[in-house]
Amino acid sequence: MGDTRRVLIVDDEPSMREMLAIMLRKEGYVIETAEGRVAAAAALARATADAVITDVRLGDGDGIEILRHVKAASPETVVIVMTAYGSTETAVAALKLGAYDYLVKPFDVDELKIVLRNALERQRLQEENRILKAEFRTRAGLDRILGISPAMTALFEMIRSVATTSSTVLITGESGTGKELVAKALHAQSPRQGAPFVSVNCGALTETLLESELFGHVKGAFTDAHQSRKGLFEAAHRGTLFLDEVGETTPAMQVKLLRVLQEKRIRRVGGTEETDVDVRIIAATNRSLEQLVEEGRFREDLFYRLSVIPIRLPALRERREDIPLLAAHFLERFAREMGKGVTRLAEEALGLLQQHDWPGNVRELENVMERAVALETSPVVLPERLPRGLGRTSRGGGDAATRVEPGDGFDLDAYLRGEEARLLRLALDRAAGDRGEAARLLGVSARSLRYLIGKHQLGEA
Ligand SMILES: Nc1ncnc2c1ncn2[C@@H]1O[C@H](COP(=O)(O)OP(=O)(O)OP(=O)(O)O)[C@@H](O)[C@H]1O
Ligand SMILES: [Mg+2]
Repeated sequence: MGDTRRVLIVDDEPSMREMLAIMLRKEGYVIETAEGRVAAAAALARATADAVITDVRLGDGDGIEILRHVKAASPETVVIVMTAYGSTETAVAALKLGAYDYLVKPFDVDELKIVLRNALERQRLQEENRILKAEFRTRAGLDRILGISPAMTALFEMIRSVATTSSTVLITGESGTGKELVAKALHAQSPRQGAPFVSVNCGALTETLLESELFGHVKGAFTDAHQSRKGLFEAAHRGTLFLDEVGETTPAMQVKLLRVLQEKRIRRVGGTEETDVDVRIIAATNRSLEQLVEEGRFREDLFYRLSVIPIRLPALRERREDIPLLAAHFLERFAREMGKGVTRLAEEALGLLQQHDWPGNVRELENVMERAVALETSPVVLPERLPRGLGRTSRGGGDAATRVEPGDGFDLDAYLRGEEARLLRLALDRAAGDRGEAARLLGVSARSLRYLIGKHQLGEA
């Protein structure tokens, strides 16, 4: 069992405490002892225990109160109750309140050792299971970032180089560009991958709820706080906390976030103690934080703290080369999920997808493909299955193709090659494979067409 486990023994009888402490230290546990309820609470406030073994009858209270206290503060902690002979009711009550087991005094210490070992083993498996699940999710997330455009290649490079650091990252990009996917990939490639990736949507909660969600609260902090609760900062300890839609936070919340970023400690709502947290923050927003700063709606100091490493996700219309790949990926996925024999997109349909403006970016493309696959009855997705108006009109007016502009990262050869391939496929598609007709549609000779088909490896058409 990897790291050492902390066990707190509570009994008002000194000889009993001593005996158990000695026997359990031999087992390799770190032991603390307390003679009563007050001392136990103090010990637990210093550091949480992996297990608490408590007597029921104590000088200053009873073990059931300790059980309640422990389960409220840290539900994962194992509690084993020692009861006197003949007090079955107390034992049953303890089990109902979440005790792992009870032992009737006098008991054999070997029996206690076995119960304790099993309890801690179960606790460890539960923890491992939780981590494995979280890890699986994030790994699965990593595989799904697709892209061949220069912008996406640069992004992959960026993810690799900053994943190893713990610096705060600010991901910006229009809605549906993959901000959450990138956040998960950053976590999955970081040394923190074994710890949780915790995500919170700052725009979806009221200020009060968000505060208790992030920082947790102590019992009685507000009317509904029946028991104390861990916040997401604590839950993400040693891992990553993803603050989605950070631009939506209120000024008061911004102050609190700034404070955690600076001090790396949190205080639960209604609490007095501060806890150290080791959390990597990744924030995301689809609004311009610079503009919010200018308008006085976002704190400039917090903006700088968050954007230590800024990552901007390009809109889909800025990387049209990725559209065929993404479309094919979604087609394959939905066909599989729906159990349909749809295998590819008609060239004309792909042409429409490539011309569209995609205000909703990859998510919009995903939805369009889902609908198309659902409606399609043939093995090929036809243009009719795409939403009316898709690709034909564009927001800014004018043809999408004429709006391509030279600039950083623009590659004229690649662009022309792509256009050539697109028109070629479109012509072959419209001509239903009749090469003579395709050549006529393109205004080229049969020989040129053969050459072009070879060049773009469209031979099977
Ligand atoms: N490069 C990509 N490869 C594959 N799938 C992608 C890619 N980018 C985004 N997606 C998919 O598109 C959908 C939207 O992505 P995500 O939720 O990460 O976007 P977002 O930027 O967080 O959007 P919002 O601002 O609306 O929250 C998801 O289903 C995601 O899996
Ligand atoms: Mg998102």
